[in-house]
Amino acid sequence: MVLPDTDPDIERARWLPPAFYADPEAHALAREKVFARAWHLVFPGPGEPGSLVPVTLLPGLLDESLLWATDKRGRSRLLSNACTHRGAILCDSPRRAVAGLACPYHGRVFGLDGRCREHGGMGREPEPTWNLPELDAPRALRALGPLHFARLPVEHPSATWPEPAFLGELQRRVGFLLAEPHRDDPEGARVYEVEANWALYVENYLEGFHLRWVHPGLSRQVEAESYAYELFPGGSLQVASGQDGAGDVALPAGHPDAGRRVAAWYFHLFPATFLNVYRWGVSVNVVEPLGPTRCRVRYRRLVRDATALGEGPGAQLHEVELEDDRIVASVAQGYRSRLATRGRYSLVHERAVHHFHRMYIEALGSA
Ligand code: FES
Ligand SMILES: [Fe+2]
Repeated sequence: MVLPDTDPDIERARWLPPAFYADPEAHALAREKVFARAWHLVFPGPGEPGSLVPVTLLPGLLDESLLWATDKRGRSRLLSNACTHRGAILCDSPRRAVAGLACPYHGRVFGLDGRCREHGGMGREPEPTWNLPELDAPRALRALGPLHFARLPVEHPSATWPEPAFLGELQRRVGFLLAEPHRDDPEGARVYEVEANWALYVENYLEGFHLRWVHPGLSRQVEAESYAYELFPGGSLQVASGQDGAGDVALPAGHPDAGRRVAAWYFHLFPATFLNVYRWGVSVNVVEPLGPTRCRVRYRRLVRDATALGEGPGAQLHEVELEDDRIVASVAQGYRSRLATRGRYSLVHERAVHHFHRMYIEALGSA
């Protein structure tokens, strides 16, 4: 397919063509060239010593079945959850694991280190390929506080994401908060489905331009003039101050944001992971493409300071999400119109969108 042009100069560039967002070929290409190669947040993280926790990366797109296996000494591994004999899922819900992991189909047994320990009935000796593939650190697994990131083995490792560049940026800005204990709060888990291409959702998230029109409630809590955008390899960051200091985070000495008031850091990690860091903790939302014109948004909440829940710009996530979903679906509908045109970027507010488009088209065109 012919990929849309993206001029590096934002003054000359245009948004992607409307028809691109509903193109099945672009969707299939994004699955292989973007999502199958990207770093992903693995949520939940590993469980207690002696436990198994299954996790699926991007259900409906990648459907990659993984398994956190933590031995009784507390050593965690991220393994494939597909049996090496015929692919049966080894573990379908979190549970204790004391004596390894037995496949429910023909009984192949694995240790929590992923090694195949026994398989009667095969009439041959176990081979090394019978061990479960592992996504191991640092090549394919990284951790930062309560957050774990992984990527699948890639055919062209140098082409995209040689390093998770966003980890350095996360560490620099919010590492001091992530170093503290966080609690996974099931109350904050929500799922939304949006009738729109995943990239339309991402674009909307990347600009605060729409705040006063789409989110009248939120815009009363965020100081519009304080809104700042920063771009970095592999993502971008928006920093917001609360109105009258509501929800402001106490910054340690020497912090890059020292001297300004910060109530929220909104990180975009290319392609479709968002980390919203507030005084109370972290709200994570991951966009899961389900087809060219449908996506699912999955929210999770990691609470650091429960007493700060309910204050500042991170307080009304549900209302804000519904407002966003409505406007994103409206754009998808408008873009189905044959009269829809390629817009121009706001030079003030849409630099992060332009940056996203550059990464997206470059990844689609990579070898
Ligand atoms: S599929 Fe697991 S032992 Fe056959
Ligand atoms: Fe919004």
